[in-house]
Amino acid sequence: MELKRYPDRALRKKCLPVRDVDDEFVSRAQQMLEFMYAAEGLGLAAPQVGRTDRIVTLDVAQQREGTRIFLNPRIVSHEGYMEEEEGCLSLPGIRVKVPRAEKVAVRAFLLDGEQVEVEAEGLAAAAWQHELDHLNGVLIIDHLTPTRLITIRGQLKDLEEIAQRQER
Ligand code: NI
Repeated sequence: MELKRYPDRALRKKCLPVRDVDDEFVSRAQQMLEFMYAAEGLGLAAPQVGRTDRIVTLDVAQQREGTRIFLNPRIVSHEGYMEEEEGCLSLPGIRVKVPRAEKVAVRAFLLDGEQVEVEAEGLAAAAWQHELDHLNGVLIIDHLTPTRLITIRGQLKDLEEIAQRQER
């Protein structure tokens, strides 16, 4: 697995629902989780490793236990408003304030087919919204006003140049 970084087009793909969960799928989903830990991320979404199915791995508390792999997640309710700084493994060095709901309820499937509903607030709520955005090809920079976008234009340009150099 390889981490996709801005401006890689993989990050702009809208992912499709997961339909079949076989052994290979399970082992690849677990690889994604290990990859997330190795990269020291709180969460990871399929497009960040070049996949196009709706998988999110999440462990905001970094406790390495409990349920951390979610399929076909969707937000079923949200309330409140907050703006906290967020970073993204795919946008190294960039931290920006992103408008989010303060609380969310998320419904998702687990690898064994069970459906769960998770309630999250604060950092965990932001993480869910961040990862669900990824499944729809949306990045934290897409939430910025043009004025705020200007303030990180130099950093984005640097990332674009790094990518160009790697292509050559
Ligand atoms: Ni991200």
